[in-house]
Amino acid sequence: MVDESELLSVPVRLGGGRSYRVEIGAGALSRLGAVARAGLRREARKVALVSNPRVFGLYGARAAAALRGAGFEVAHWLMPEGERFKTLRTAGRALDFFSEFGLERSDGVVALGGGVVGDLAGFAAAVYLRGVSFVQAPTTLLSQIDSSVGGKTGVNTGAGKNLVGAFHQPSAVVVDTDTLGTLPRRELTAGWCEAVKQGAVGDRRLFERTKKFLAGEARGARDVRGGANVKESGAGRGEELARIIAAQCAFKARIVAGDEREELARDDARSRKVLNFGHTVGHALEAVTGYRRFRHGEAVGYGCLAAGEISRRLGLLDESELESLRGAVALAGRLPEAGDLDAETIRRALRKDKKAVGGSVRWVLLESLGRARVVDEGEVPGRVVLASIRAALRTPRTLPSDS
Ligand SMILES: NC(=O)c1ccc[n+]([C@@H]2O[C@H](COP(=O)([O-])OP(=O)(O)OC[C@H]3O[C@@H](n4cnc5c(N)ncnc54)[C@H](O)[C@@H]3O)[C@@H](O)[C@H]2O)c1
Ligand SMILES: [Zn+2]
Repeated sequence: MVDESELLSVPVRLGGGRSYRVEIGAGALSRLGAVARAGLRREARKVALVSNPRVFGLYGARAAAALRGAGFEVAHWLMPEGERFKTLRTAGRALDFFSEFGLERSDGVVALGGGVVGDLAGFAAAVYLRGVSFVQAPTTLLSQIDSSVGGKTGVNTGAGKNLVGAFHQPSAVVVDTDTLGTLPRRELTAGWCEAVKQGAVGDRRLFERTKKFLAGEARGARDVRGGANVKESGAGRGEELARIIAAQCAFKARIVAGDEREELARDDARSRKVLNFGHTVGHALEAVTGYRRFRHGEAVGYGCLAAGEISRRLGLLDESELESLRGAVALAGRLPEAGDLDAETIRRALRKDKKAVGGSVRWVLLESLGRARVVDEGEVPGRVVLASIRAALRTPRTLPSDS
């Protein structure tokens, strides 16, 4: 078991006794039991472990052993793999499992998997007996830096994504960075796009640091292909990866602490709304391609570019800043081809976005890297939106040569 002192620990400070910590590091899953023991209620005896077959096959035994080692009675239930199973029907099956297992109000749920598992298990925990405690053990980059922190849980309905849900904060989050070793490349790219987003809207240092790490990764990959001896891979980079994830979680925690429930009236640069940067066009791209071409984060990558282009065309953002954003998105990884998509179709689709208020889209734009501004649809001419979408979809997907 890794020692507690080997993990990075990020506090999420909330009112009403809902504060918790995110524990991050290589091998952190071995501490899942101890963390759940500290985070769940003192009387907790049982833990319902929710995962999917792929993730459970890779990490289930480790997670269950850690939980049993801390004295919990553990039973697991596996949802089918995939976003299309993030539904009320699947949540209902999870709830049935909780009942059959005899889970009581003082017991806990552990979500082991990506954002799909985390959102569904968190939602089931939120409504079971009107709320039982739960612990997130995220295993994708996106879930480690974004979805596991902040307490948004939910499922999709026929009408759209995440339309039913609850705010239900976890009692603890355990991020084992070793799990990223088995993650497919595209899932990493998707996660890095969200990481670039988080830096871009709120924290220039986080943006630069993330970009620098990605540039190092890209260089490392080139050196490996070129047969060079890569000294800096291994432990050093692993530690920096954990530090970047911790910094990303700390950023998300700061935003969540300041606007836990994403108040409708708030649209300042510190509101939770700014996390939607890149998501207006991103969601539209996902919708017009039937949710088949892009991973969510990949679509957000293009969405960030489009919002950056709008920001520059409105005179909010300097070209050099936009160029830096383009570089960061390119470093996140190769995005699927998008040049064939029609900008007008995408523009029509984005009007249907759930984040619209009073029938109008609110754009999250950039004043600089690290500073966002929420702007009403009326202030962004349609031709600017169109030109920006076109420019973003055509952005070369290859890495800048100097990175
Ligand atoms: N609650 C929030 O605040 C929030 C924020 C952002 C996204 N989300 C939600 O998160 C979901 C997307 O999450 P995601 O990107 O993690 O996708 P995901 O959960 O679908 O996981 C991606 C794929 O990777 C597999 N996988 C997971 N961990 C693995 C590992 N360590 N090794 C190998 N394979 C692994 C999964 O089985 C899946 O096939 C969406 O439903 C989205 O709505 C929620
Ligand atoms: Zn997202």
